[in-house]
Amino acid sequence: MILIIDFGSQYNQLIARRVRESKVFCRILPPQTDLETIKSLEPEGIILSGGPGSVYEEDSPTTDPEIFNLGIPALGICYGFQFMVHTLGGKVKKAQKREYGYASLNITDHGGLYQNIDKINECWMSHGDSIERLPKGFEITAFTENTPVASAVDREKKLYGLQFHPEVHHTPKGKEILRNFLYDICQCERNWTMKAFAKEAVEQIRENVQEGRVILGLSGGVDSSVTALLLHKAIGDRLTCIFVDNGLLRQDEAKKIKKVLKKHLEINIRFVNASKLFLKGLVNVTDPEKKRKIIGKVFMDVFEAEAKKIEGVKFLAQGTLYPDVIESVSAFGGPSVVIKSHHNVGGLHKKMKLKLVEPLRLLFKDEVRRLGKTLGLPEELTWRQPFPGPGLAIRIIGKVTPQGLSILRKTDAILLEEIRNAGYYKKLWQSFAVLLPLKSVGIMGDQRTYENIVAVRAVNSIDAMTADWARLPHPLLAKISNRIINEVKGVNRVVYDISSKPPSTIEWE
Ligand code: XMP
Repeated sequence: MILIIDFGSQYNQLIARRVRESKVFCRILPPQTDLETIKSLEPEGIILSGGPGSVYEEDSPTTDPEIFNLGIPALGICYGFQFMVHTLGGKVKKAQKREYGYASLNITDHGGLYQNIDKINECWMSHGDSIERLPKGFEITAFTENTPVASAVDREKKLYGLQFHPEVHHTPKGKEILRNFLYDICQCERNWTMKAFAKEAVEQIRENVQEGRVILGLSGGVDSSVTALLLHKAIGDRLTCIFVDNGLLRQDEAKKIKKVLKKHLEINIRFVNASKLFLKGLVNVTDPEKKRKIIGKVFMDVFEAEAKKIEGVKFLAQGTLYPDVIESVSAFGGPSVVIKSHHNVGGLHKKMKLKLVEPLRLLFKDEVRRLGKTLGLPEELTWRQPFPGPGLAIRIIGKVTPQGLSILRKTDAILLEEIRNAGYYKKLWQSFAVLLPLKSVGIMGDQRTYENIVAVRAVNSIDAMTADWARLPHPLLAKISNRIINEVKGVNRVVYDISSKPPSTIEWE
């Protein structure tokens, strides 16, 4: 296992993903993690990440310097490298020129990180500080025009440092450099596979739950479906799933999900139709945060009432993923600004006095999809685009009404049908329609119309933390727009959302 010490870089998750793609398990820990914990995890190597701080600033993040005396190979990236140098007696100073972007890397060493890598390569720099003097025992292994110490090594102590970022795809040989660290320097085995994970997860669940009963909120999305499957494998009928229809699902979604889940998951599932309660709670509500809070609260009430009908429940299972867990331990883990209150069952276990079971809490979304496939889940469940808990309520800007829901459902169904037909469903992170509280003038036949506007949103992303609008082919956009305006009564204009995240978000509310 590899430990990644999180100094707050925006690329941390990318480092973790690169390591796992190389079939080596890794965990991200905050810098304040104590040495005993680090030792007890028995890592084969440690990666110190980049970060926005400067080592000579007072409140810059630090980790126990003894980490460099454990005899475990360490790789410092950008800030992590500077921290290594600063701590071991070298000198870091503000760079004369901030370096950002591509640089030509001249490698002077051909062992270690650079085995089987050409002498001259491109690399991606992003730093304001640079290394002026290396600590004793270190030697330079590469330089660029503006950065005399682009990388260095203390061979005896197996300490490696890179001023550039090997984890981003702008460093074309970055993957190989990281793999040299993992396989040659740390001697990691390539055994992190979803099959191995599933076996271990099932054993852990059994140990954790013993003879207890578990409930799980099933949404039909990949996270909760895979959680259900793992739990079912581990404890069989002692798992009961609850599916709540909140009346805010897409066209025929509740029916379809019911059918697919029943067919593929031979699991106890209770279906609860609570549409009326949700819609009643949302009458005349326009504020996005209020909508989210109301939906969250009604969901909890409905779920709790249903769960109480099941006797002897001791555990609540959730499909929490790794990005949510890391965010809560990050180096600068102060209270971050609430952008959107995500609807999940957070806090429900406390209210119901249940213990949590979160078997996916160390996985990324793409790993969950692979795990689902390994467990035999069909594509229609593993390859669903994410759909937010508050459903169509946050895709109808303004008041949520039955008419609005009906217009949006028809629009969305056409959009998804066309996206699927064009082979884009799996390629896109998400594609959906948003109903705007605006009307515009149009002309149909010889008649003036004054009807609704819908926006189409399609984005590419790897983890929803950042996203870019999809450059869909114009003929596809034309077909979508044409069909929506012709087939959905009440819509006479379609616009395409060309905003990326950040600064926008994926959902509109
Ligand atoms: P934003 O809009 O914040 O969304 O860019 C990021 C991702 O999260 C999904 N999303 C939610 N998922 N409950 C969820 O389970 C929610 O309340 C929620 N709000 C947004 C969104 O669809 C995107 O994939």
